[in-house]
Amino acid sequence: ARLVVLVSGAGTNLQALLDACSDPAYGAHVVAVGADRGEIAGLERAAAAGLPTFTVRIPDFESRDAWDAALTDAVAAHEPDLVVSAGFMKILGKHFLERFGGRIVNTHPALLPSFPGAHAVRDALAYGVKVTGCTVHFVDEGVDTGPVIAQETVPVGWHDDEDSLHERIKQVERRLLVDVVGRLARDGWTTRGRRVSMKCRTC
Ligand code: GRF
Repeated sequence: ARLVVLVSGAGTNLQALLDACSDPAYGAHVVAVGADRGEIAGLERAAAAGLPTFTVRIPDFESRDAWDAALTDAVAAHEPDLVVSAGFMKILGKHFLERFGGRIVNTHPALLPSFPGAHAVRDALAYGVKVTGCTVHFVDEGVDTGPVIAQETVPVGWHDDEDSLHERIKQVERRLLVDVVGRLARDGWTTRGRRVSMKCRTC
């Protein structure tokens, strides 16, 4: 399966996917990496792996809709079977969902439906939960609302701050994301009784 990975930051989830893809038995390979901003470690990791990269920045467009259409075209140019939002911190719009809906997975650093949004780890700590974790889910039009594919728990320590907790979550998250994407690539996936088509819709 052809993967396009979208990133906004450090790209450690991307790196985990790149490492997994070096084994042909994994069943997937990253064909391109996209971002919503430049000069991030995630793009450097992609370049170091010899992959094409593209950056589509919201401020470069007159509207959010125009940005969404441009991002859709940039991703479609690489004909992905699956799009992986791996720390991509923007909400994907209607053009993107029309083109790739059902074939976009996102990783989120909390146990959805608890603590959606951009500050999931901070919000979980502020609430005082003793167990949190990570979720890999399909993306729909909501914010972190799509069907859950897999989750794993992480205990919250009394000494944790946002950074220490997020780091422990990310260790679990990387493994979970690699596992889910590999399963999707090799076998497809059943969610709510519906088998996800892995056929490329653009080819
Ligand atoms: C991950 O925890 C992801 O769930 C969150 O941002 C983090 C990205 O980490 N949205 P990285 O860029 O893959 O290192």
